[in-house]
Amino acid sequence: MEQCVIEKWTEKGHGRAFQQGKAIDIKGAFVGETVQVDLKKGKRGGKKGILKSILNPSVERVLKKCSHTLICGGCNLHGLSYDSQVQMKQKNVEKLFSQPVQPILTAQEPFYYRNKMEFSFSQDKDKKKYLGLVEEESRGKVFEQKDCALCPEWMITTLKSVFDHWCGTSLDAYYLHTNTGSLRTLTCRVGVNTADRMVILGLSGNPMFALSFEELEGFKEAILNANKGCKNLSVFVVLTHVEKGVPTYTSEMHLFGKDHISEVLCGKTFYISPQSFFQPNPKQAELLYKTAFDLLQPKPSDSVLDLYCGVGSIGICLKERVHKVVGIELNRYAVCDAKRNISINNLENVEVTVGDVKDSLAQHKDTPFDIIILDPPRAGLDEQVIRTLQQMRVEKILYISCNPKSLSRDLVFLENCGYAVEILQPVDQFPQTLHLEMIALFKLKNN
Ligand SMILES: C[S@@+](CC[C@H](N)C(=O)[O-])C[C@H]1O[C@@H](n2cnc3c(N)ncnc32)[C@H](O)[C@@H]1O
Repeated sequence: MEQCVIEKWTEKGHGRAFQQGKAIDIKGAFVGETVQVDLKKGKRGGKKGILKSILNPSVERVLKKCSHTLICGGCNLHGLSYDSQVQMKQKNVEKLFSQPVQPILTAQEPFYYRNKMEFSFSQDKDKKKYLGLVEEESRGKVFEQKDCALCPEWMITTLKSVFDHWCGTSLDAYYLHTNTGSLRTLTCRVGVNTADRMVILGLSGNPMFALSFEELEGFKEAILNANKGCKNLSVFVVLTHVEKGVPTYTSEMHLFGKDHISEVLCGKTFYISPQSFFQPNPKQAELLYKTAFDLLQPKPSDSVLDLYCGVGSIGICLKERVHKVVGIELNRYAVCDAKRNISINNLENVEVTVGDVKDSLAQHKDTPFDIIILDPPRAGLDEQVIRTLQQMRVEKILYISCNPKSLSRDLVFLENCGYAVEILQPVDQFPQTLHLEMIALFKLKNN
């Protein structure tokens, strides 16, 4: 066992000590602490320390609400006071931009905020079964999940019920490398403001490993037993079809309850089906949208193009302040939900179409929009999208990003296209983790 003093944070929120100038990264250790560790080989010839004991705990260390923090990659900052988490995230995000960054808008509820969790079924070489999240840096090793500080308690109760049921069957977990086995994932979703729940059993679409009617009923009963008090529970199966030479695709079976959950955001109701994206922390999403709209200062005559629009949430929440919204979204399920959401909220002048922004944006090149909203996945914007944006020369761009790194790259591209960034506003949607949501408002410079 070695003794180390933690001198700095790593990018992943681990503690870093140095021995003869060489870095040792220690998960779960905080800056300023002296710790005892077992040394192991790390990545790229480096070393990592397995935390064994803390000799002088940091004053910023607080009680943990979860027993898996030393292996789980879900919330690396858990155990550090929320104030210190925010300070660390502020410093990290400021390093990425040459422009000033506003102070982070923090979360009122830093625990149990997630509305969606996806757990994985797995077996080791001795066929021992696991259902839970994946260990950090483990190439897919799943641990037996007993608690979680990010999701509501019912999701863990459901996981345990499904796990106990699975242990009484001879069914195997799906194994990607051989496309064998049946059980892939267990996903739980909730409408935080409606209490609607949805549980989705993810199965292999390989017909050789299909579940019988009785086997499906067994899992359904395990889910229902764990959710006896719930008024609106939906149960689905999503089958993932993996075939050589064919792009992977999914199909759904509806087993129980409504075919969607509802959520309420900014006073609007949203219909969410199993495979549609929805912001993972609705309380903070509301703060994100309201802050973004206040910064945007739209005019009642404005026409808005809402790119990567999901189930239409940004455009629908913004609609009362603008004349028209056009949305583009790749996921067909989300577009169906968006159309339903436009209708249930009685909105006119909002339309959503299916398409890859990369290809579909060009069709709108000559339409006179006043505002473009961008809310891409973590990878950020495709080069082709940036080229089309350059031709469109729309006055304002509101970029909402779940990845400050890709935003900092795209910011430079947009500046080269003639835009100036007016404000960079971080919002903490993901306490206990290093993730941060960003609002960036761009305006076209007058040449
Ligand atoms: C971060 S989510 C934002 C969703 C929505 N704006 C919201 O606030 O809920 C990104 C969305 O982009 C969609 N998407 C991913 N790649 C896309 C593409 N190439 N073209 C269009 N939509 C895409 C995803 O399906 C997802 O709904």
